[in-house]
Amino acid sequence: MSPRILVFYGTTDGHTRKVAAAIARTIQSIGLEVDLVDAKASRRKVTPQEYSGVIVAASVHAGGYQRTVRRWVKQHAAELRTRPSAFVSVCLAVLERSPKAARDLGAILQRFFRATEWHPTESKIVPGALLYTRYNWLKRWLMRRIVAKAKGDTDTTRDYEYTDWDDLAAFAQRFAGEILSARKAG
Ligand SMILES: Cc1cc2nc3c(=O)[nH]c(=O)nc-3n(C[C@H](O)[C@H](O)[C@H](O)COP(=O)(O)O)c2cc1C
Repeated sequence: MSPRILVFYGTTDGHTRKVAAAIARTIQSIGLEVDLVDAKASRRKVTPQEYSGVIVAASVHAGGYQRTVRRWVKQHAAELRTRPSAFVSVCLAVLERSPKAARDLGAILQRFFRATEWHPTESKIVPGALLYTRYNWLKRWLMRRIVAKAKGDTDTTRDYEYTDWDDLAAFAQRFAGEILSARKAG
């Protein structure tokens, strides 16, 4: 039986679903089985136990990740620790490319790892999206203000997607490849 990977994700506005689905497609394309699970849909049913590796993806909103993801990871930290695992952090601050933004994102990650007692084999920061057309007026106004300060994109009549899909595919390929070679060696 080929190894099975779990891609478990949390999303607020939908972009991390797209990121998680892209990761799942890449892993499938190299011949592994994948389950793609939304933290909101089936938090209780899924456990890391049945999987050779787990990738958790979540997005940063006001300095933290989705509560559903935090709870699930905390609940399953012991099983996550005994298999290859990765955390994908989707955010926008990484686009600022400043030491302060990097420090802040590092602190958000460390807070998550401390709170959940899970230290994944690897973690990856992925630039997300500005979905102005999907936000309500208040969120659109707020996001435009924050983004303008950082000299980012402020045309609220359209959406912006910053994810580097090739880089994401390379990450997913490497993660799955390591699980495949461990299986062959063992
Ligand atoms: C209300 C709001 C708050 C956000 N707060 C942060 C933040 O604190 N740091 C950050 O880097 N990105 C922040 N972002 C950017 C999101 O992480 C980014 O838009 C991401 O693509 C959202 O993913 P999702 O669609 O899966 O929820 C925020 C976005 C929104 C709409």
